[in-house]
Amino acid sequence: MDKFIVHKSELSGAVIISGAKNAALPVMAATILTDEKCIIRNVPDLMDIRTMIKILECLGKEINFENNILTITTISNKSFVAPYKLVRTMRASFCCLGPLLAKRKKAKVALPGGCVIGARPVDLHIKGLKALGAEINIDKGYCQAKTNGLEGAHIYLGGSFGSSVLATANVMMAAVLSKDETVIEHAACEPEIKCLGLFLKKMGADIIGEGTSLLKIKGVKKLKGCEFEVIPDRIETGTFMAASIATRSPLKIVGANPMDLISVIEVVRNMGVSVDIDKDQSIFINPKGKLKPANITTLAYPGFPTDLQAQFMACLSLVEGVSLIAEKVYPDRFMHVAELNRMGASIQKSGSYAIIEGKNMIYGAEIMASDLRASAALVIAGLAAEGKTEILRVYHIDRGYEKIENKLKKLGAKIKRQK
Ligand code: EPZ
Repeated sequence: MDKFIVHKSELSGAVIISGAKNAALPVMAATILTDEKCIIRNVPDLMDIRTMIKILECLGKEINFENNILTITTISNKSFVAPYKLVRTMRASFCCLGPLLAKRKKAKVALPGGCVIGARPVDLHIKGLKALGAEINIDKGYCQAKTNGLEGAHIYLGGSFGSSVLATANVMMAAVLSKDETVIEHAACEPEIKCLGLFLKKMGADIIGEGTSLLKIKGVKKLKGCEFEVIPDRIETGTFMAASIATRSPLKIVGANPMDLISVIEVVRNMGVSVDIDKDQSIFINPKGKLKPANITTLAYPGFPTDLQAQFMACLSLVEGVSLIAEKVYPDRFMHVAELNRMGASIQKSGSYAIIEGKNMIYGAEIMASDLRASAALVIAGLAAEGKTEILRVYHIDRGYEKIENKLKKLGAKIKRQK
């Protein structure tokens, strides 16, 4: 297993943001809805994308992936099974369920199970698809679904923790080929869902309201192939902002969409960090001078993203004063707390809250990455810590950050990968 060796670094220069993993994955699943060729640009080359390619190949697609461009064609429509050996490595594969059901009238998709960030149920996915008339059984770890043709429905898709990104994606993809109109209330508003909506519309779907909490979808008979470009990754963007703050290094972030990070930019500016947006949407972040602690509550979009909680906890560990983080999306997503504390940070967890007493120094240590975003937080901590940090199990970071160490090295980071 690879590990990262990281030393305290000062960063400078510009970083180019890749396409969004969490937008590309549902768009890839949506190609099941057509037999025609789809060309998808700006797809980040990372492990989760490679896993989705394997799943789509199991489902009869032929895929070429070169220079961040996916070309997807259909060889066979017969298969309807997404096997556990692939689904267990990536929960997003569960969003093949909706398009399989809509196009092939049956689906057998392994249940993803929980993961280190929490229980992660799929009740909303199933509720939404059942409302469209699907017959669904959970059997031997698989979700088996069938239909004679989905119907429209009026669905409330809110759960105990608010809206669900992938449940909205699943129900939306199922509804586009249904017989009549579907209304989804409390839909997820994340930019990744808006991106999926735009892709489906380019394929010929009739959708109103993508990117808002009210979706109106009129079923159509058939969808066609198309060319599409995936949006920039707002979580990668926020991760580089956190790295800039933790290392007190000014950075230029190119190719991002700052409007997708409005809550994050607000928090960062309130900390006393200067953030300027250029006409071409480049973000100039300059964390010089004394910074202030922050109160962060993670929420569904447009709230502060849970996928940036760990990275901002790492940088708040180095801002003197007391910061508070309330995790409202995944109340147990705190695996990184113990590792940051091993580096000398002072973070106390209480239920779904973390109280961070900022220090002016943390120290390198041997630490263990537990999930994708926690890994990014540990890399950020390592870049800001005195001495040497060894981060074990970095395969997590390869799931979701394209060429992370190359991008960091280009900015002057002292980071190397060791087998
Ligand atoms: C997506 O997961 C992202 N994954 C996650 O990113 C992200 O953390 C999450 O949205 C929240 O923004 C992808 O897009 C591939 P949810 P998703 O359903 O859709 C509860 C990363 O690091 N819930 O929006 O699976 C759930 O437990 C990953 O890139 C139910 O109760 O998340 C959570 O509390 C990690 N029932 C809340 O809703 C359900 O049926 C939001 O989860 C579904 C979810």
